Amino acid sequence: MLHQPLTLPCGAVLRNRIAKAAMSEQLADRHGSPTPGLNRLYATWSRGGAGLLITGNVMISSAAFTEPRNAVLEDPRHLPAHRAWADAVHAHGAAVWMQINHPGRAAVAPLSRRPVAPSAVRLPVPGYNLRRPRALTGAEITEIVGRFARTAELAVAAGFDGVQIHAAHGYLLSQFLSPAANRRTDAYGGEPSNRRRLLLDVVRAVRASVGPGVPVGVKLNAADFHRGGLTQEESLHVALALADEGIDLLEVSGGDYQSPAMTGLVEGVGHRDAYFLEYARQLTGRTTMPIMLTGGIRTRAAMNELLSVGTVDVIGLGRPLAFHPDIPRRLLAGEDVPALPAAPRTGYRPADSYLELAWHNAQFHRIAAGSAPRLAPGPFSVVRGMGRVTAAALTQAGPASGS
Ligand SMILES: Cc1cc2nc3c(=O)[nH]c(=O)nc-3n(C[C@H](O)[C@H](O)[C@H](O)COP(=O)(O)O)c2cc1C
Repeated sequence: MLHQPLTLPCGAVLRNRIAKAAMSEQLADRHGSPTPGLNRLYATWSRGGAGLLITGNVMISSAAFTEPRNAVLEDPRHLPAHRAWADAVHAHGAAVWMQINHPGRAAVAPLSRRPVAPSAVRLPVPGYNLRRPRALTGAEITEIVGRFARTAELAVAAGFDGVQIHAAHGYLLSQFLSPAANRRTDAYGGEPSNRRRLLLDVVRAVRASVGPGVPVGVKLNAADFHRGGLTQEESLHVALALADEGIDLLEVSGGDYQSPAMTGLVEGVGHRDAYFLEYARQLTGRTTMPIMLTGGIRTRAAMNELLSVGTVDVIGLGRPLAFHPDIPRRLLAGEDVPALPAAPRTGYRPADSYLELAWHNAQFHRIAAGSAPRLAPGPFSVVRGMGRVTAAALTQAGPASGS
């Protein structure tokens, strides 16, 4: 099953059913341009055999970063470096989609001095130094829709095979979906159909800019997994609305900074074989939209079972690819995913989520530098990784405005 190609609604074909999920690489330069190291990492992943590589989140605006050294694609000036990134993947046969994102209120100081969000509600995560955002005006919302479309158009011009709109994990589009973050009283807030309006506007604008033959995917939370956030029931309605829009692939994830369910750090959430399996099962039979499930999927048996019963169409893998970039090839050859080194834990979930990211990000930097991942990293490598992120944040040009 893992070998089987998949034809998407737009007509594009994935060479097999394994996708590398988006993982923020933090390997662009301080102006958001992809670097040779980033290209080397993606060439390694493409050689690793996955059918699809989804990039880490690329910013639609240089005024709003999720993490330092993320890539930005907002005007043609950025095209040559992004073209080299797409070429590095294509040289080894995988397809590559650009994940496009705006952080909204989840932008960490000092990267965003004046964050914007659906409403002026600060994300309640102590220790993250997150600022109270300003509510976007109607005109700014329209501008942001245009930015998503523009970045998607530029991604295709740079040679990317498709785009994935990031509507999960508590970033801007996910904030609009959440009743806790979105307290607006205009057409973009209140009723569920209003809260999902921005996401659907973005999907339509992106589709219009890339045309009918280019894959457009969305990453969505099965739920936010905290009180007041997007519920599973409402998320299922969002998924069906996305199916009506004719998207090519819905990637199912969950959680946000408050409740990092996406990496399995929330007790009592998640299935043994795949964190968000229950949600994917709820969609079965209700739509023909292709589904990619990501989060905690580790055994070949579970992957084959998910695919053969038709619950999902694509298996998303994140962290295994940090330590074993060739794991898709090995899975396709009948091997299983080896045990993965676990990141250190403090017991405070948001901090543990950050450590989890730094732990894996350190491996991306090793591969980018031409080294092998360190299969037994010590706590020191996390400290060094966090130091690098902090230094990068401090040296990155800080924007003056937030949209
Ligand atoms: C270092 C790191 C960076 C990540 N960055 C992103 C990102 O930019 N966009 C995104 O949608 N998810 C991101 N994620 C979440 C992954 O895409 C995925 O949902 C999560 O790791 C669960 O899959 P896994 O259990 O196979 O690792 C990141 C995860 C890690 C470990």
